[in-house]
Amino acid sequence: MADRYLHLTGTAPGRFLTRRLGLPQPAALRRWTLETPHLDGPLLHLTAGASAVTGVAEALRTSGLTVTERADRPAAIVLDATGVATAAGLGDVHAALHPVVRSLAPGGRIVVLGTVPSPDDHHQAAAQQALEGFVRSLGKEIGRGSTAQLVRIPVARIPGGASAHAAGSTLRFLLSPRSAYVSGQVIELTSTAPDSGSGSGSGPTPITDPAAPLTGRTALVTGAARGIGAAVASVLARDGARVIALDVPGAREELERTADRLGATALPLDITAPDAADRIAAAAPDGLGVLVHNAGITRDRRLANMPADRWASVIEVNLDSVLRTTDELLKAGTITRGGRIVATASIAGIAGNTGQTNYAASKAGIIGLVRSLGPRAAAEHGVTVNAVAPGFIETKMTAAVPLFIREAGRRMNSLSQGGLPVDVAEAVAWFAQPDSTAVNGQVLRVCGQSLLGA
Ligand SMILES: NC(=O)c1ccc[n+]([C@@H]2O[C@H](COP(=O)([O-])OP(=O)(O)OC[C@H]3O[C@@H](n4cnc5c(N)ncnc54)[C@H](O)[C@@H]3O)[C@@H](O)[C@H]2O)c1
Repeated sequence: MADRYLHLTGTAPGRFLTRRLGLPQPAALRRWTLETPHLDGPLLHLTAGASAVTGVAEALRTSGLTVTERADRPAAIVLDATGVATAAGLGDVHAALHPVVRSLAPGGRIVVLGTVPSPDDHHQAAAQQALEGFVRSLGKEIGRGSTAQLVRIPVARIPGGASAHAAGSTLRFLLSPRSAYVSGQVIELTSTAPDSGSGSGSGPTPITDPAAPLTGRTALVTGAARGIGAAVASVLARDGARVIALDVPGAREELERTADRLGATALPLDITAPDAADRIAAAAPDGLGVLVHNAGITRDRRLANMPADRWASVIEVNLDSVLRTTDELLKAGTITRGGRIVATASIAGIAGNTGQTNYAASKAGIIGLVRSLGPRAAAEHGVTVNAVAPGFIETKMTAAVPLFIREAGRRMNSLSQGGLPVDVAEAVAWFAQPDSTAVNGQVLRVCGQSLLGA
């Protein structure tokens, strides 16, 4: 559904009028295209005090941007704050960013690199946790379509010294137009990363073809006939994956149209069917490199008015079938080593929502699944497990929301607009990258830094 307000503020008279009325001013966000794959300008690399990790400059170069220590109008600023270990050290964060934050180009990116707060050193933990509040506040105030994130590098636990090497895929995503609708996020990289070959944790799998990093991998996307699932299927196909698009038999026509458009295989199947995992395995005889649980439904009612069948159907589609098929496909070895599982939560599962006790329970359950299974799936199967938590995304699901609630959902975030299905799809594709081995057990909100559950 078109966001008419965004169009209005894109015109000179509309901008004038809405400014006079003190209304939100959403900036047009630039998404990835083949012609414009990178941000438009250099990357300013700053350090607060002394860095505690090696390899930051190398990791930054994978962004494709020109890395510099001085720039008049940077498209991105990366502040290495890994060495900040005391409250006094936070002064270095201010000293580094205060003079340059105004010069950030519209639609720019700020990424702060931190470390995992230490359980043994409460001064370091306080200083590093402070970066979270800092970044979340910065995301709310920089405006003009710019975003801010914190990436934590697990300094203490990396054998042989801390390195930003494993942050490559994450920085590539955050420092690009692909992350246009992601802001105010904290991403904690793991040091016990599986690798595709041995699962020995020796580091990320290198990408052989940067234009098609998923070449040779089969990706299955549930709920792929339309909306976010169709966008995920499209982006994974763009990245070179062989895609199997799954949706309910009742959506067969739409599913086949989507699959044909993408050169994908259509798999009409209800994900709640008892033999769903067997049929998925049969459709992917060479195994799955990527499994995306995207299918989801809502059956909204306040708890006092909610019959048991509405409760049960939402839990069954959104959570139980995800748990069941994941368990069975992992056990059968259908998900190959180096594989990626990406599930779909929601900010409703973080913030809660009136009329959505069933839906929010199912989506919070997804977060529990990801956090618990991620480390074990890595250790036992060499597979990562992560989730996206979309905010307000423009799809048929949100088009059905009543007008005023819809408008509130669109504006109540730092970017003052709804996201597009492709924004969620790009986040899924980042999780799916072969070199995203250190990204595990994470829940990434794709919500423009929604105020809900913030
Ligand atoms: N749109 C949003 O703003 C938003 C926000 C947060 C989370 N999400 C989540 O993102 C996912 C996709 O949402 P969407 O907006 O694209 O929804 P949508 O309703 O447009 O698409 C969902 C797809 O899932 C399919 N599906 C439903 N039940 C299925 C089953 N049993 N087996 C197989 N396929 C099934 C549907 O047929 C449909 O094609 C869902 O999990 C949803 O909860 C969406």
